[in-house]
This record gives sequence, structure tokens and C-alpha cells, in this order.
Amino acid sequence: IMSMRDIKVCLLGESGVGKSSIVMRFVTNTFKSALESTIGASFMTKTIVVDGDTFKFQIWDTAGQEKYRALAPMYYRGSAAAIIVYDVTRESSFHAVKGWVHELQRHGPSKIVLAIAGNKCDLEDLREVQERDAQEYAREIGAIFCETSAMTATNVPELFDKIARMLPPE
Ligand code: GTP
Ligand code: MG
Repeated sequence: IMSMRDIKVCLLGESGVGKSSIVMRFVTNTFKSALESTIGASFMTKTIVVDGDTFKFQIWDTAGQEKYRALAPMYYRGSAAAIIVYDVTRESSFHAVKGWVHELQRHGPSKIVLAIAGNKCDLEDLREVQERDAQEYAREIGAIFCETSAMTATNVPELFDKIARMLPPE
């Protein structure tokens, strides 16, 4: 029996890490090198099939700028999954991931699937965050982990595929 599921997912993380770029790559398979910073939040949907089951992702791409910080609970509330994004070339953005994890553990949905994405992995020469450190942290908290590049498309479909596979059965 095949199922069709609506999955609310939100993206969180510092401004400029590439949340909107990941969503754009996933939904339209495009990339813009000078994307405008998100105002408030933006919404997109994309349907994928994993092992014969259909998942309609309802994606809330939040704004990372500090002035929008207070809006975040509106988007993670009721989410089945959260993708917390950092930029592998910016250590401070990885530190911010831990802040989001703590907030979700305290105030988020109890069974939320957490995914951590280390984006901009195409910029190897500028790397500040080692993959093994982030991978180890994700393992400790039971989160999905991927290094991604919205620019080259590396691991972007795989990230959503992994989330679909981690969702508890209906
Ligand atoms: P806010 O909306 O302000 O929270 O930022 P955001 O997290 O949505 O970042 P956004 O997607 O707007 O990306 C910021 C900048 O980084 C843009 O100029 C993108 O083109 C660039 N960028 C995003 N992803 C990648 C990537 O994988 N590689 C490289 N090289 N640049 C990227
Ligand atoms: Mg954005």
C-alpha cells in the first residue's frame, strides 16, 4: 500500500549560511550567486517519492537575521523535521547550530527529526569547520548529518531523502 504524506519542515540557521539556496536547489534545481536575504520567512513545496511512498514537503525557509529571531517558534512549532544549516567556512555559524538544537530540545515538537547541514562544502579552501567534528556532534544528538553545496547540488536531494526515511511511520 502506497501512502501520501504532508511533511512540514523548517530551515533554521544564521543569516547567509544558504538556507534559501538549499531550498531553491531542492525545489527548482537552480542557484543564484547573489540571493537576497529572506524577509520573515518563505514557503515552498516539493513532492518526492521514496521507496514507493510519496512525501509532500511543506518547507518553511526562515530568515536568519537577528531581527526575525522571535518568529522562529511559529515555523518550528508543528514541524515534523527541522534542518539546521551552518556554513562550513564560518565557525560561528556552527556554534549557532548548537543554540538551535538546545532551543528545539526545550521548546520544539517532542518527536521532531533533526538534520544538520554543513553547507558551502564547495569552498574547501575556506573551510573552518571539520566534517568529523560536525558529524560527531550530530551523532551525539541523534541528528541526520550531511555536508551540502547548494551551488554544486552536492547532497541536497540526499538530505531530504534521509529525512523522509527517518520520519516515524504514520
Ligand atoms: P538569510 O535569508 O539571510 O537567513 O540567509 P540564507 O541562509 O537564506 O542564505 P542564502 O541562501 O541567501 O545564501 C547566502 C549567500 O551564500 C548567497 O549569495 C548564495 O549565493 C551563497 N551560497 C549559498 N549556498 C552556497 C553554496 O553551497 N556554495 C557557495 N559557494 N555559495 C553559496
Ligand atoms: Mg534566506
